[in-house]
Amino acid sequence: MSGRKERFGSRTAVIMAMAGSAIGLGNIWRFPYMVGEHGGAAFIVMYLLATLLLSLPVFITEVTIGRRSRKGAFSAMSELHPGHRIWEFVGLLAVIVPLLINSYYCVIGGWSLDFLLRSCAASFVRMSPSEVTSVFSQMSSSRWEPVVMHLSFMGISTFIVAHGVKAGIEKFSKISIPALFFLIIVMIFYSVTLPGASEGLKYLVKPDFSQVNGETMAYALGQSFYSLSLGMGAIITYGSYVHKEEDIVVSGAGTAVFDLTFAILAGFAIMPAVFAAGIEPGAGPGLIFQSVPYIFSSMGEEVPVISAAVSFIFFLAIVVAAMTSCISLIEVGVTFLGEKFNLSRKKSCCLLFVLCGGLGIVCSLQPSVFDSLDWFCSNVMLLVLAFCFVVFAGFVMKKEDVREEITNAGAKPLNVRLFNVIYFQIKWIAPIAIAVILVTNFIL
Ligand code: PFF
Repeated sequence: MSGRKERFGSRTAVIMAMAGSAIGLGNIWRFPYMVGEHGGAAFIVMYLLATLLLSLPVFITEVTIGRRSRKGAFSAMSELHPGHRIWEFVGLLAVIVPLLINSYYCVIGGWSLDFLLRSCAASFVRMSPSEVTSVFSQMSSSRWEPVVMHLSFMGISTFIVAHGVKAGIEKFSKISIPALFFLIIVMIFYSVTLPGASEGLKYLVKPDFSQVNGETMAYALGQSFYSLSLGMGAIITYGSYVHKEEDIVVSGAGTAVFDLTFAILAGFAIMPAVFAAGIEPGAGPGLIFQSVPYIFSSMGEEVPVISAAVSFIFFLAIVVAAMTSCISLIEVGVTFLGEKFNLSRKKSCCLLFVLCGGLGIVCSLQPSVFDSLDWFCSNVMLLVLAFCFVVFAGFVMKKEDVREEITNAGAKPLNVRLFNVIYFQIKWIAPIAIAVILVTNFIL
């Protein structure tokens, strides 16, 4: 096994780096509209169950594969089990899927950048809900604006990766993520006091289980994987940098709790405003762009400058959170092109910019391509890849090797006691549940 030199310095560093990749548009943009499209509180319950029962073991599996192999997504499995083409193919898919996701992820990053610029011009002060909705629909349906914003967002992120100035943006995200957390809590207070907001609160806390079907479960599981950056090489790659002494179970649980809390708070900030503004909760990907400015507009009724400042900080924090996630998506491709074709970092970045940028333009101009790509990646491919990873850990890796990673060779007494339960989840519960959800929804 080839040893890489870089390691995360401390447990906080591991959790922060993984949370940086996990917390992004998935929590703030995708989670609320998924809740709105798939039955409100009942979806949230399914999402919580999916995270605890399935995402957590998948997370532990990915870190185990990464740390054991000390390799990135493409080569990790063939390093641990050489000479089997199938695992090389799975590794290749684990590189392709994040790049497909990156293409449309940057379109939403572009919308956020657009709203950040509008906040600079204090555009949302004293706007009515219908004015906010029409700003969004004009922007997203115009021919050039979203494309220019998408390419600008992707250009900045790719530039950061190409010039290796990630450290700067990561430092910045250490301020902006807590700032976003704080702002979301402030926004909850404003949002729940808007006239008509109580309907939104009821929608979030009163589950109607008659709305739950196999499809809801698949979407909840897909959302949980997407949000925790699972089912695509990112966490395997991060796992390869995790120190031998680190507790994989604690890091996984810490990241999951962070990520869950963020998503649920975003739901509580956004859904009451959606109902107050009279927007359909199932309005789709534009949901936060149609509802959030209304919160800022109501904040600014007495002191407009407060509304302008808060909306500026909010969209800036979203752009930074999206960029840290986007950077980890591009990095997967750069590592692959470097390892496999010996391409330099700069050349790889140019190539990825052209490929992902081109596909992103199509997504930006064709909502149906955007929706299909998101559906295919999040609800099919992430599940397929997560299935392959747990099967690899449960059936291909030796049980003793998995035990050594999860218990740190017996040095973590709690993990030693929990090992059989975790291993049972990895080997049996996760693959069977993921396969049943996949087959019943998408294959039969
Ligand atoms: N987890 C990120 C989010 O919730 O926005 C999206 C993401 C980032 C997915 C990085 C995958 C990844 F490798």
